[in-house]
Amino acid sequence: MTEEPFSGPHLVQEAHPEMGTVLGTLWLAVTRAGGAVGFPSDAAEQDVRAVAEQAIEDVRAKRQQLIVIGADHALAGTVFLRRGTGTVVAHRAEVLRLMVRPDLQGRGWGKRLLDAAVAHATALGLEQLLLSTRGGTDMPTFYKRQGWSEVGVFPASLRLGPDDIRDEHWFQLRLS
Ligand SMILES: CC(C)(COP(=O)(O)OP(=O)(O)OC[C@H]1O[C@@H](n2cnc3c(N)ncnc32)[C@H](O)[C@@H]1OP(=O)(O)O)[C@@H](O)C(=O)NCCC(=O)NCCS
Repeated sequence: MTEEPFSGPHLVQEAHPEMGTVLGTLWLAVTRAGGAVGFPSDAAEQDVRAVAEQAIEDVRAKRQQLIVIGADHALAGTVFLRRGTGTVVAHRAEVLRLMVRPDLQGRGWGKRLLDAAVAHATALGLEQLLLSTRGGTDMPTFYKRQGWSEVGVFPASLRLGPDDIRDEHWFQLRLS
C-alpha cells in the first residue's frame, strides 16, 4: 500500500499565522500548472498570494470554512465553503477553490476533498451547494462525474486574457 505523506481531509479550526503564505504557495503551483482556480497560469505571484491572504482572513473571520489535506505548513489540497448570508440564502453554500497539488492529482484526493465539503455542509444542515467552473477545461465533466447537476452557463464571462474568453459553468448539488 502506498503511504501518503500527509493527512486529511480535515476542517481547519484555527488558521495559523503562516496559513496565508502556505495557501499562496499551493495556489501558485496549481495556477502555474493551468488549474482553473481564479487566475490565468501566468498571473503575477503577488496577485495570487494577496488573494490567498484574503481567503485566510475570511476563514479567520468565519466568513468561509476551509477543509485541507496535507501538513499545516505544507498544504497539499484545499476546498472552501462560503455559506450564504441572510435568510434567503442561508440554506446553501458555495464551494470554492477545490485544488490538489499538481504532483498529487489523480490519486483520489480531489474527490475526498469534495466529499468532505459535502459531508460538512450536510452536517451543518445546508440544503444545497453551488459552484462555478471554467469552460474549455475538464472540470465540467469532473463535477458531472461527482454527481453534480449543471444548471447553467454564463457565456463568455471569464476573461483569462485578451484572446482567451471562457464560459462559466454553474453546478448545483441538492443535499439530502
Ligand atoms: C480538479 C481536481 C481537484 C481533481 O482532483 P484529483 O485529485 O486530481 O482528482 P481525483 O483523483 O480525486 O479524481 C476523482 C475522479 O474524477 C476524475 N477526474 C479527475 N480529474 C479529472 C478531469 N480533469 N476530468 C475529468 N475527470 C477527472 C477521476 O478519473 C476520478 O474518477 P473516478 O472517481 O470515476 O475514478 C484537481 O485535478 C485539481 O486540483 N485541478 C486543478 C485545480 C482546478 O482546476 N480546480 C477546479 C476548481 S473549479
